[in-house]
Amino acid sequence: MRVPIIAGNWKMHKTAGEAVDLVRELAGLVAGIRGVEIAVCPPFTVLAAVAEQLQALGGGIALGAQNMYWENEGAFTGEIAPGMLRDTGCRYVILGHSERRQYFGETDTQVNKKVHAALAHGLTPIVCVGERLEEREAGTTEDVVRGQVQGSLAGLTGRQAAGLVVAYEPVWAIGTGRTASASDAQQVNGFIRELLRGMFGEEASRAVRIQYGGSVKPDNAAELMAQPDIDGALVGGASLQAGSFAGIIKNTV
Ligand code: G3H
Repeated sequence: MRVPIIAGNWKMHKTAGEAVDLVRELAGLVAGIRGVEIAVCPPFTVLAAVAEQLQALGGGIALGAQNMYWENEGAFTGEIAPGMLRDTGCRYVILGHSERRQYFGETDTQVNKKVHAALAHGLTPIVCVGERLEEREAGTTEDVVRGQVQGSLAGLTGRQAAGLVVAYEPVWAIGTGRTASASDAQQVNGFIRELLRGMFGEEASRAVRIQYGGSVKPDNAAELMAQPDIDGALVGGASLQAGSFAGIIKNTV
């Protein structure tokens, strides 16, 4: 039985003060909710402040980062190492988000290096895949997603793969208010699980959690989360307010 994971990707939002207020309010709203894992992924600059606040709140909400570099340390100006994220209290790291791919030119090969480095440091990667609108309209969604999954997860063992979180995020649904229908999302999530079965075996494919992301809101969360191969959500805009993020979490269980 897979425990769903709802992760908030705050993207480039929140000062330290705003971030601490948000997690404090969120913790109050989700106290007592069982059967779902909750994570927040703030910008690097506020990770430490949020980590401290989450610890003070009792540890029911996990911390994640939005990106990292694959080297352990060195002359890589502006980059953050996996060990630094661990040291700050991160458990998760989002890798290969479509915004990283689109605006910063990240490739599957780079994402793959990051995935290996994250796992080597005890971080759980949330690996993002998903097609752009023109790819969906051209009928190439499965080809695109297959290429991203195979490229990003190359060289992992079945055991490593089993612990991953994969996020299917159709690019056309991100921040647009246009959500994939529950059946479209299920179709691709099921396709990803099948792919993983071929790559890593039955046991790993049953264990890996596959999220959906793209305009998830409290009022569409229940239907999406009820799908057999959707094991949680990667939430952008609606994770920036405690009420809407808590609403999604409540509607997941
Ligand atoms: O990582 C989160 C996704 O990009 C979804 O963003 O919920 O604002 O559409 P959104």
